[in-house]
Amino acid sequence: QDTDQSWDDAELRQLLQTLPKEQGWVSGTTLYLYQGFWLSAVSAGGLKPVISLQRHFQALDSDVFIATFPKCGTTWLKALTFSTLYRNQFAGDEHEHPLLSFNPHQLVRSLEVNVYLNNPCPNLENVCVYKPRLLSTHIPYASLPTSIKDSRCKIVYICRNPMDMFISLWLFTSKLIDQTKELLSLDEAFDMFCRGIVGFGPFFDHVLGYWKASRENPDKILFLQYEDLKEDISSQLKHLAVFLGVPFTEEEQKQGVVGEIAKICSFDKLKELEVNKNGLHVVGIRNKDFFRKGEVGDWSNYLTPAMVERLEKLIRQKLDNSGLTF
Ligand code: A3P
Repeated sequence: QDTDQSWDDAELRQLLQTLPKEQGWVSGTTLYLYQGFWLSAVSAGGLKPVISLQRHFQALDSDVFIATFPKCGTTWLKALTFSTLYRNQFAGDEHEHPLLSFNPHQLVRSLEVNVYLNNPCPNLENVCVYKPRLLSTHIPYASLPTSIKDSRCKIVYICRNPMDMFISLWLFTSKLIDQTKELLSLDEAFDMFCRGIVGFGPFFDHVLGYWKASRENPDKILFLQYEDLKEDISSQLKHLAVFLGVPFTEEEQKQGVVGEIAKICSFDKLKELEVNKNGLHVVGIRNKDFFRKGEVGDWSNYLTPAMVERLEKLIRQKLDNSGLTF
């Protein structure tokens, strides 16, 4: 019988001894290969909260999950899904919109980064104020708790061109660490990334896991791409609303509700809010670090032609015959 007490640090230490490991991107950190993906040991988003939630989380049929690989547009998708799903719960005064006072990560909590970080059996009632419950995860599809895969809940996944995602992650990580730590050089981190060694990676396994699952079960998993949202946010939002079972009515469309949601969730709007300029994320990250450039193609300012060639080759190999393109 699984109890909270059965999962303790001794068990974690024992498990760690059996897992393949690699030095992480930041000095003094280690990544462990668990169920085919790389994780740190105990920190936010690490092995301990992941195993806790795999053991204890019970999905409801009405739940909605945002699933992403880090730096693929999680913050944006949280804002968009939250604003679409709950629009009738705070409709009315536009100055009351929760996004004006809270960072998207406070409104939509991540299972492994904070909900299960220090508590193997958190009270989800306190975590999800609005209903239906909306939560997020970076866990690959194959390793999601069984109840998420088996229930009728919905999953919205977003991916992004790996070149932009990689640059976004490397720059983000450089902002997270203090002077006592060192981050791998861009070259070294790029090599690790291409070899799949990155938190929640390999990247391509993550993306393809959700891609295949969404093709098999399109009513359960909606697969979005960051670049498509940048290109045409209105049609992507309408698509999202239909998927969530809350399509925009003709009346709402006439009133410009779609445009209002797109605007309040836009990079320029969110970045300038006081909470996102000076606030702290629930696990101590500065909210402002979630908003850098928000552009497509910024990788060209960082990657050398040789790096681009290597990653393009990898993209071709990995996505071959999958039907997915970047
Ligand atoms: P860049 O570093 O390329 O600017 P995540 O939210 O998954 O951590 O991803 C962060 C990336 O999304 C960052 O990319 C960030 O600037 C961008 N981003 C954050 N909010 C956004 C928004 N509202 N619209 C578009 N991009 C956004």
